[in-house]
Amino acid sequence: MRINKYIAASGVTSRRKADELIEAGKVKVNGAVMTSLGYHVQDDDVVEVNGSRIKPATKMVYYLLNKPTGYVTSTYDKEGRPLVTELVPDEVRVFPVGRLDYNTSGLLILTNDGELSNKLMHPKHEFDKTYVARVIGIVTRAKAARLAKGVDIGGFKTSPAEVKLLRHDRNSTLVEITIHEGKNRQVRRMFDAIGHEVVELERVGLGNLKIGKLSTGMCRKLSPAEVEYLKRV
Ligand code: URA
Repeated sequence: MRINKYIAASGVTSRRKADELIEAGKVKVNGAVMTSLGYHVQDDDVVEVNGSRIKPATKMVYYLLNKPTGYVTSTYDKEGRPLVTELVPDEVRVFPVGRLDYNTSGLLILTNDGELSNKLMHPKHEFDKTYVARVIGIVTRAKAARLAKGVDIGGFKTSPAEVKLLRHDRNSTLVEITIHEGKNRQVRRMFDAIGHEVVELERVGLGNLKIGKLSTGMCRKLSPAEVEYLKRV
């Protein structure tokens, strides 16, 4: 197998990024730095990336997790906080696709499929992402319309979003919002832009995928049809 494919199949990164790692001298084969992009890995070769031995996963796994708040969307946290990867079975090493904030809950995909993950995170393939936010104060229809049209979140104007006012009590409003981009803390910043602080945020949908009745902290495997759907996009 060609070395960039071998690296991608090991869940490290995409083939293109694997080429960059090779060019940067970060890849060793049998202890020696490998600089040939065209090298074909042999059965008994020992391949290392950044000093760690890698091997293609024997099988690809795809999980949909209902992330609780209080978990970091990462495979490592220098502060030692709980990691989303601790919530999926450890049959193989997986990593999260995209990011939910520490204080955001809901739908998160974890996989060891580096190719798919990189594809999904490319801006060209941005999926619709649907969130339910509880925000402080009563959101008027006029403000919801501003949010839907697009707001400035600090040097960036958001593209049109779908906004539904679900219900409110005396002090807060529950709003469903579907966005098409994935800027850092985008939903919180969008509500900040119309003067409403987000106090709870849950992602309930990603493209066709829905969180459904999956309890917080639980995960399930994606069905073959769901995996196909993600690969087709
Ligand atoms: N928008 C946010 O503000 N936070 C998230 O975690 C996801 C989207």
